[in-house]
Amino acid sequence: MSQMSERLRNEVHEVHEQVAITSAEGPHSKPKLYFELAEWWPLLSPPGLYAEEAAFYQQQLLGTCQWPCRTLLELGSGGGNNASHLKKQFDITLLDLSQEMIAVSRKLNPECEHHVGDMRHVRLGRTFDCLFIHDAIAYMTSEIDLRRAMDTAYIHCRPGGAALFAPNFVRETFNSATDHGGSDGPHRSLRYLEWRWDPNPEDETYVIDYAFLMREEDGTLRVQMDHHVEGLFGRNQWLQMLTAAGFEARSLLLNHSHIEPGTYELFVCTRPR
Ligand SMILES: C[S@@+](CC[C@H](N)C(=O)[O-])C[C@H]1O[C@@H](n2cnc3c(N)ncnc32)[C@H](O)[C@@H]1O
Repeated sequence: MSQMSERLRNEVHEVHEQVAITSAEGPHSKPKLYFELAEWWPLLSPPGLYAEEAAFYQQQLLGTCQWPCRTLLELGSGGGNNASHLKKQFDITLLDLSQEMIAVSRKLNPECEHHVGDMRHVRLGRTFDCLFIHDAIAYMTSEIDLRRAMDTAYIHCRPGGAALFAPNFVRETFNSATDHGGSDGPHRSLRYLEWRWDPNPEDETYVIDYAFLMREEDGTLRVQMDHHVEGLFGRNQWLQMLTAAGFEARSLLLNHSHIEPGTYELFVCTRPR
C-alpha cells in the first residue's frame, strides 16, 4: 500500500471512530451546542434573524390574552434571541436548562430576569400574562415530558392569559432535509451543516446531526459533531394534550417571508378564567 493510501485509510478510520463515539453517547446525551459550544450560538443563530417571527408571536399573544398584557415567561429561552425583540413589548422572565445558554442570553438581554431550570419541573411561584415556548419544546421527546412542559406553562399562566407553543414540526409537517448556515463575528466565524432525518417513523422522535466548523481569531479551525434528538407529535395529539392540561387551544400557521406557507405550525392557547 502506498504512503498516500495508507494515510487515507487512517483518516477514514479516525472519522469512523468519531462517529462511533458520537452515537455511543446515546440519543439523549446533552447537545454540545447548548453546553460546551454555547458561546458559538450567536454565530449559528444571530438574533437579527428572529425579528419577523418574534413580531408574529407577539401579535398572537397580544390578540389571545384577555388582559392588558405585560408580563411574559419564556421556557427554554436559549440565547434569548426571540426575547431580544419581545422585550420591547413585554417584561420578560427567561428560563433555560443550560447555565451556558443563560450566560449568552444575559449578555444580549441584561435587563431581563433569568433563571436556570427545567421546563418540565420548574415552579416559580407566580403567574404571567403570557407563556411562550419556542423551539425548545422540541426537546420534549415523550408524551410524558411534553405534558409536563404543558403543565408548567399552565401553572404559570394567569387565568385569561395566553400561551404559545412553537414546535419545529408536527408529525404532519416533518420532512427529512439538510440545511446549512452560520455567520462571521468580529473575531470568530462559524459554519454548520444540519442533517435532519427520522430513523424510525413509528416512534415519537426524529434526529438532527450537525457538523460545525469553527474558526478562531488566530485562524485555527475546529470541527465538532453534535447529535440532537427531538420530539415529534401529531397535530391532534398536541391539541388533545393541551386540552387535557386545561388550555383552550387552536393551531395556526406561521406567516413568514422566508418560510414556505403551510410548513410551520403553532399552538395558541388561553387559560380559561
Ligand atoms: C434552540 S435553543 C432555543 C433558542 C431560543 N428560541 C432563542 O430565541 O434563542 C433550545 C433551548 O432549549 C433548552 N432546553 C432543552 N430542554 C430543556 C428543558 N427541559 N428545560 C428548559 N430548557 C430546555 C436548551 O438548553 C436550549 O437552550
